[in-house]
Amino acid sequence: MSTGTAAARAFYGRWAGLYDLLATYVPGVGELRDRATRALDLDRGDTVVEMGCGTGANLPYLREQVGPEGTVVGVDYTRGMLDRADRLVEGEGWENVHLVHGDATQPPIPGPVDGVLATFVSGMLADPATAVDGWCDLVPDGTVVLVDAALSDERAAAPVNALFRALTVLSTPPTLRFRYDPPPHDLLRERVESARGALLDRARASYREERVLGIVRLTGGRM
Ligand SMILES: C[S@@+](CC[C@H](N)C(=O)[O-])C[C@H]1O[C@@H](n2cnc3c(N)ncnc32)[C@H](O)[C@@H]1O
Repeated sequence: MSTGTAAARAFYGRWAGLYDLLATYVPGVGELRDRATRALDLDRGDTVVEMGCGTGANLPYLREQVGPEGTVVGVDYTRGMLDRADRLVEGEGWENVHLVHGDATQPPIPGPVDGVLATFVSGMLADPATAVDGWCDLVPDGTVVLVDAALSDERAAAPVNALFRALTVLSTPPTLRFRYDPPPHDLLRERVESARGALLDRARASYREERVLGIVRLTGGRM
């Protein structure tokens, strides 16, 4: 495991409770999750995998798309995040939602599946293009959807970009360091664009939507 990966896991493990609140209640985030899961274009009875499912904020939306007769699999490598997702699944009594402790870059899931979702994960991957390519392989006749946030090129986004830079630095482990080379927001944008590029290269049809002045990017690719 690389130092960066270990630090990211330790960070998310420590902050899982706070992350869960933000992931569920930040204004607009529920609508974004609803939009992203609809973009998967799933049918009832389908199987969908969420890479880097975290505390499970997307699971209710995914389950709604595939119904009780479908299957939802969440993969995450941070035990503390997955524990929260586990509590949600057990509390709701969802027998068709399964959680796997594993590395999304080497998916512990045999394909084919009908859809793959990854929200706010691509920016954490050292080689997002290769990971996304692997996810596309799992979905020979379905859709892969990515949602990510990164600095926007829109002129009007300058104030939101400034806030985004500050949040990125504060949420990069170790949390009390304020100078990085390269800055985490630049690395994040590079990775997010690389993941999107890989998806668009593989897709025979694609869908793109931007929100919050271009900061949040939703990208869907039909294989
Ligand atoms: C920012 S959180 C997003 C969680 C969730 N997708 C959401 O939208 O709330 C990123 C999650 O991805 C997980 N993650 C990052 N890289 C991963 C990898 N290679 N394998 C599995 N999980 C990974 C982290 O553990 C963390 O739970």
